[in-house]
Amino acid sequence: MTERISVIGIGFVGLCTAVGFASKDYTVVASTHNAGNAASINKGVLHFYEPGLQEPLLNAVKSNHLKCVLTREEAVLNTDITFIAVGTPSQPDGSIDLQYMKNSAIEIGKALNKKRTYHLVVVKSTVVPGTTEKLVKPLLEEHSNKQCGHDFGLCMSPEFLREGSALYDTLHPDRIVIGEHDKKSGDLLTTLFKNFYSEETPPIVRTNLPTAELIKYANNSFLATKISFINTIANICEKIPGVDVTNIAKGIGLDRRINPRFLRAGLGYGGSCFPKDVKALNAISLQLGYASPMLQAIQEVNENQTKRAVEKVKMKLTELKGKKIAILGLSFKENTDDMREARSIPVINQLLEEGANIIAYDPVAIPNAKSIFKDRINYASSSIDCLKDADCCIIVTGWNEFKKLTPENFAQNMKQPILIDGRRIYNPEEYSKKVKFAAIGLG
Ligand code: UGA
Repeated sequence: MTERISVIGIGFVGLCTAVGFASKDYTVVASTHNAGNAASINKGVLHFYEPGLQEPLLNAVKSNHLKCVLTREEAVLNTDITFIAVGTPSQPDGSIDLQYMKNSAIEIGKALNKKRTYHLVVVKSTVVPGTTEKLVKPLLEEHSNKQCGHDFGLCMSPEFLREGSALYDTLHPDRIVIGEHDKKSGDLLTTLFKNFYSEETPPIVRTNLPTAELIKYANNSFLATKISFINTIANICEKIPGVDVTNIAKGIGLDRRINPRFLRAGLGYGGSCFPKDVKALNAISLQLGYASPMLQAIQEVNENQTKRAVEKVKMKLTELKGKKIAILGLSFKENTDDMREARSIPVINQLLEEGANIIAYDPVAIPNAKSIFKDRINYASSSIDCLKDADCCIIVTGWNEFKKLTPENFAQNMKQPILIDGRRIYNPEEYSKKVKFAAIGLG
């Protein structure tokens, strides 16, 4: 039997899950309450920027393997397995906002009440340990009037995709984590994944529900730790002439126990996940009675990186009032237009507070950035346009396009060729000869 799949929520995780299954000929029903987004998906048009997802989406819709509906009920009644991939944003105190998860569980429960056959529900959203067992399960049981583990199954399987390579990561994960409520649920999901990935099935870690939930937080927090650690080393490097953090990262990254990934020093981590997840893990930890100095420190180091970059600008220009600062890169990382927790936000806000005039350029994120910065800053039409007559330039996002800029581009277009490499994309030896060059982690 080939299971029919439904997916609740069509953000990065939901849509990649839906398109991934559809690309392997599963019948997939996605669901969202947003009529505009549903209409867009049904035309095969992506409603957000993500490289490599548009064409597979169009193929999935054209081949009738994927459609998007407006009710959870329609999605659940016409399928065998439902993945919940709704957003779980942060509340002002850093704890997780579970309202979308709660609503989904209620609506899925009501649909299960009308179903005669066994159904498996899989939580894919990032949720704090205990959520699947203590919130999702009781709501499903209450509204379906059925028993979990008997009439329907329940698993928690976190997603590890990165924006910018979201579909690729969905199709080629390092491992799969399955938290299972009961053995039957776990067996069913394991079989689904084994059939889906066939010979390329990665290692599967089977465990209980709260362990799977905590693995996701531990994973993101560990990666954030690597970034804050290398940024700590970067800040030490800056005090020692001739020492460059990129060489330190190379030297330690070759130790297989460390590995070279997530050791790029710079302005720190942003995005919809690391800031929110480290904050949430810290909040969970505190609630459980453990105040973690480490989780606090990871966040503190990250916040300070942007302040340190602004200090570098001040050291070069002395006075920022009235100076024109060019910002290259606005999105939280390259290959996305996502501005959530982008490091450009604190950098630009601090510069504006000091009275600087900002001109910014990003290959794709300007429309999203405009809703944040409005007319408080100016927007350029190209990187060269951005550099024109600027007193200083800061690289905030490491887009490939910026890597192609030569030292001459800065020297010839800027009023004063002061360049701060906030993402370590340039060779210091080459650039220092022609521009006044400073970089994070360069002694
Ligand atoms: C991250 C994780 O990498 C995914 O595994 C996870 O599934 C996802 O969060 C999630 O929880 O949904 P993502 O936020 O898309 O993915 O992007 P990353 O590539 O991890 O980058 C996050 C931030 O860290 C970016 O601001 C990036 O510039 C920064 N970063 C990354 C560094 O500063 N240095 C590095 O070496 C790597």
